[in-house]
Amino acid sequence: MIVSLIGYRGCGKSSLAPLIAERLHWRAVDSDRLIEEQAGCTIADIFKSHGEPEFRKIEAEILAQLFNEDQLVIATGGGAILNSQTCELMRHAGPVFWLSAPTEELIRRLTQDVSTTETRPALTDLKFEEEIRTVLQNRIPVYQAVSDFEVSTAGRTLTDLVDDILQLIQ
Ligand code: S3P
Repeated sequence: MIVSLIGYRGCGKSSLAPLIAERLHWRAVDSDRLIEEQAGCTIADIFKSHGEPEFRKIEAEILAQLFNEDQLVIATGGGAILNSQTCELMRHAGPVFWLSAPTEELIRRLTQDVSTTETRPALTDLKFEEEIRTVLQNRIPVYQAVSDFEVSTAGRTLTDLVDDILQLIQ
């Protein structure tokens, strides 16, 4: 079985995946980091040199390979759910958790996270906050449709969230 974490940038996928995996004695993988390791450059570099469609292709291929494995917790990239085949494989592999948070909270977290400007490429030509609002509005119905469970992260500690998720899968 594979546990997949989905949700917008800043929702906590990368922080939570290793904590869940540790409790299950499974392995955690962050698909963005795996892509960067394999490409030997940052995601921002891939966007810049090859464009977003090429990144999406690499992302879908790497995830398709990971979904063949077992006892894995995957922190997916925020846009991985844009590929319908990825969604199908993900749902087939095991439970999918959408880590949700109010838009204002995500804006606050992403503003504070320095890695946002260094490694996270822009997804639109819009200004920072406007991009988050617009992209989120389009994606929320997809996160909702693809996930088995919505886990609301606002005001919850990482330990609370790990407990919530483990309870839902056991
Ligand atoms: C993206 C989110 C990023 C990364 C890429 C595209 C998106 O992942 O995959 O920059 O489209 O939302 P995180 O959600 O881990 O930041």
